[in-house]
Amino acid sequence: MSRRLKVVQWTTGKTGSAAVRGIVGHPVLELVGCFAWSPDKVGRDVGELCGVEPLGITATDDVDALLALEPDCVVYTAYRPDFDHLERILASGANVVATMYMLSGHGYGDEPSRRLRDACEKGGSSLYTSGIYPGHAPMVALAASAMSRRIERISVLESLDITGYANEQMFRAQGFDLEPDDPEAARRCEASCGSFKDQIPVMARALGVQLDGIGFTAEYALADDHTDFGFMTVGKGRIAGFRGTISGLVQGRSVIECRFVWKLGEAMTPNWPVTDGYVIEIEGDPGVRVKIEAIDGHLDGATTTAMPVLNAVPAVCAAPPGTVNQMGLPFVTGAGQLR
Ligand SMILES: NC(=O)c1ccc[n+]([C@@H]2O[C@H](COP(=O)([O-])OP(=O)(O)OC[C@H]3O[C@@H](n4cnc5c(N)ncnc54)[C@H](OP(=O)(O)O)[C@@H]3O)[C@@H](O)[C@H]2O)c1
Repeated sequence: MSRRLKVVQWTTGKTGSAAVRGIVGHPVLELVGCFAWSPDKVGRDVGELCGVEPLGITATDDVDALLALEPDCVVYTAYRPDFDHLERILASGANVVATMYMLSGHGYGDEPSRRLRDACEKGGSSLYTSGIYPGHAPMVALAASAMSRRIERISVLESLDITGYANEQMFRAQGFDLEPDDPEAARRCEASCGSFKDQIPVMARALGVQLDGIGFTAEYALADDHTDFGFMTVGKGRIAGFRGTISGLVQGRSVIECRFVWKLGEAMTPNWPVTDGYVIEIEGDPGVRVKIEAIDGHLDGATTTAMPVLNAVPAVCAAPPGTVNQMGLPFVTGAGQLR
């Protein structure tokens, strides 16, 4: 690559801060600007916001000023997509890598997808989504699937005590701390699995499988005691854990599964064990199991979410315009990170 690619970071929350830490020192990326959603972050140094040394780049909410920097790519890690912003970015010619569920291009419905597609066409730009899960863990599963001569089912399990992620807004949106008989609990849990529903058709296409439906099941674990986690509380008898499966179905048979166990702490019934990572299983001949876990026992979810999108930036910038997913890019690796 003859020059570094100019990137703008869009928000500095958990994933965004990890992205900035990944851009600093990245072999081919150069941070040139940063968007702040929170008014109190505007005007502050991005390094200071993200836990690194001052970078001399000030966070701003001025979209035009950021686009005037002519970034090659925007690293979009906002809590929720702002489709007006995304449309402007893509139409300006800047590519976007994101961590929310737009893998298939339809994760947020037809109208936003059409707007983003049109913006890509206008700007000659590409939109790519990844992360750890959805995103890279299923890519590892697809790579593993190549070792079997017959596959009955492929599954990816995310199994985590998520307390350390400390994201009250996200956890409440998932349904944590609701009463189990509150209809909102099932609704929120299923809504928060939209990203998995978006992942399954991408895997099906990669495996050459025609699905005839997507299923969803979930169950709850209830807190044994009232617990204050510091960033939020969970009341006794309220939801402290979820376990569920999103299934890609062929003639009623579950053939592709995105599974999850999410827990806040241990004091709950039932207290499902967690593996603190990802377990991929290819059931077939031969059956294959792959585990993704941290060597030091602590999987840093923000970094493992941010790096698969950062490491994809050169390929996304080189991709033809439109929504691209992992199947449309060269296999994303840590190229250049071996130092
Ligand atoms: N694929 C994966 O593996 C994976 C894993 C984790 C998360 N994610 C997704 O990645 C995205 C970022 O996750 P995160 O945990 O980093 O989120 P976060 O820290 O809660 O929020 C990211 C930033 O979004 C802005 N923000 C806060 N509330 C907002 C709202 N109501 N509407 C719009 N923007 C808001 C803030 O920007 P400022 O910093 O400017 O204030 C915040 O710091 C989410 O969509 C999440 O679902 C994906």
